[in-house]
Amino acid sequence: MPAKKKTKVVSVQKKVVKTKTKSMSKKSATDAKNTESGDAKSQRGARAINLLRGMKDITPKDEIYWLNIYQKAVELANAYGFGFMETPVLEEAVLFTRSIGKDTDVVEKEMYVFEDRDGTKVALRPEWTAGAARAYVTHGMQTWPQPVKVWNYGPVFRHDRPQAGRYRQFHQFGCETIGHRHPCLDAELILVGYNFLKDLGISANVQINSIGNAEDRQNYTIELVGYLRSKRSYLCEQCKKRINKNPLRVLDCKEEHCVEVISESPQIIDWLSEDSKNYFMKVLECLDELGIPYILKSTLVRGLDYYSDTVFEYYEDAVEERSQNALGGGGRYDFLIEQLGGVPTPSAGFAMGLERIISILRSKEGNKNILEKEWSRIFFAQLGEQANYRTLKLIEDLRLEGIVVRHNLAKSSLKGQMELADKFGATHTLILGQKEVHDGTVIIRDMDSGNQEIVDQNKLVLEVKKLMKNIIKIRK
Ligand code: HAM
Repeated sequence: MPAKKKTKVVSVQKKVVKTKTKSMSKKSATDAKNTESGDAKSQRGARAINLLRGMKDITPKDEIYWLNIYQKAVELANAYGFGFMETPVLEEAVLFTRSIGKDTDVVEKEMYVFEDRDGTKVALRPEWTAGAARAYVTHGMQTWPQPVKVWNYGPVFRHDRPQAGRYRQFHQFGCETIGHRHPCLDAELILVGYNFLKDLGISANVQINSIGNAEDRQNYTIELVGYLRSKRSYLCEQCKKRINKNPLRVLDCKEEHCVEVISESPQIIDWLSEDSKNYFMKVLECLDELGIPYILKSTLVRGLDYYSDTVFEYYEDAVEERSQNALGGGGRYDFLIEQLGGVPTPSAGFAMGLERIISILRSKEGNKNILEKEWSRIFFAQLGEQANYRTLKLIEDLRLEGIVVRHNLAKSSLKGQMELADKFGATHTLILGQKEVHDGTVIIRDMDSGNQEIVDQNKLVLEVKKLMKNIIKIRK
């Protein structure tokens, strides 16, 4: 009988284990014992290691958000023809200094920079765009069909001051359209970010501006510095320093007095060249055509130096503007690839901040977690050694049919397992004891009514499929 055969296999395996144990030298056994007791001691007295400031764990309780958001990113990127690209977390620091700008907050204050073992100055990527531009040059992508459209997804690092919506490791989903300059491409990128939020159920607006070309900005900056100097006494200490170092950054300040000064400042739009002005008008016309609501924001300049012409950011609707953080942002960077040693390659892109988006979803939907997953509604409990092994096999049979059940094969008490089933919110528990192993059956227990049904093990997959259909029907 097959059941007997299985018993034999088990006992043979046991013998093998025994023989191996015997053959272990006395010394190594003593060593192992010492190490164990040493570990136990050090564990008892050890200081708990905390998370670094500004870093966050993503645990299975957050899974439902992260997987959903990832799936949306994949769907949208595919739908708009972006190909997946992942550049390394670690790059030469000069890549970011040259791209983002040495006087920006990101490079000056927030970048994680250190010397690698071979003395190379390296940095953890503070964003994806510079890496994408570097990769375009590295892989000779100018010979590929243009534009090269890529998307990226993953952690970036900025040694920011941790506060709500501001972390030192956070995640971005971004898209880059590299190789062409056309208003429709800017509009398409804005649309993808907008739809990403919309598909996730977030009602957002797009704030948009044009910062023109380098010459436009130079002329504007002269005017702005003159104005800011005349209002110097009203500005915060940080902005006073910025007047000479990076005056455009003053426009980002959220301090009350600075905001007042900024509201009266000269507007960059008045300093745009004809080409930049026309280009911007066309981007806005495309957005009108697509029906994307936007707000013209003359002080929007973005905190990274590589931008030119179109810049934009996404904000949640109906939130007081000054207190909120951008959910994403982007713009055109027509000169970046040239600065990195490539041929002139006009480009544009955006990135969304996923922690901020998840925080909104959490506040809207309540704290969903893994307990609400569909597949966790069926639990498999077992009693006794034979049942333990058999359960492992039956769970595998179910898995091969696409059915995932919750279980804890390390628990021997049925009571403990039923408590666990309750914690997982199981509607049904499959129970396998010694008798069921012998009879080739499984008990299916309805957790609400307590009713039990006995089914043949060979028909378990079929019965569980029926059960799952009913669960879905009842939930609908
Ligand atoms: P960014 O505006 O620096 O743009 O970052 C994009 C988004 O990342 C922000 O709108 C925000 O949602 C999120 N974010 C930024 N800093 C933090 C932080 N400390 N903690 C949590 N979330 C944060 C870029 O990174 C550009 N590379 C976007 C781009 C792509 N431009 C062209 N292509």
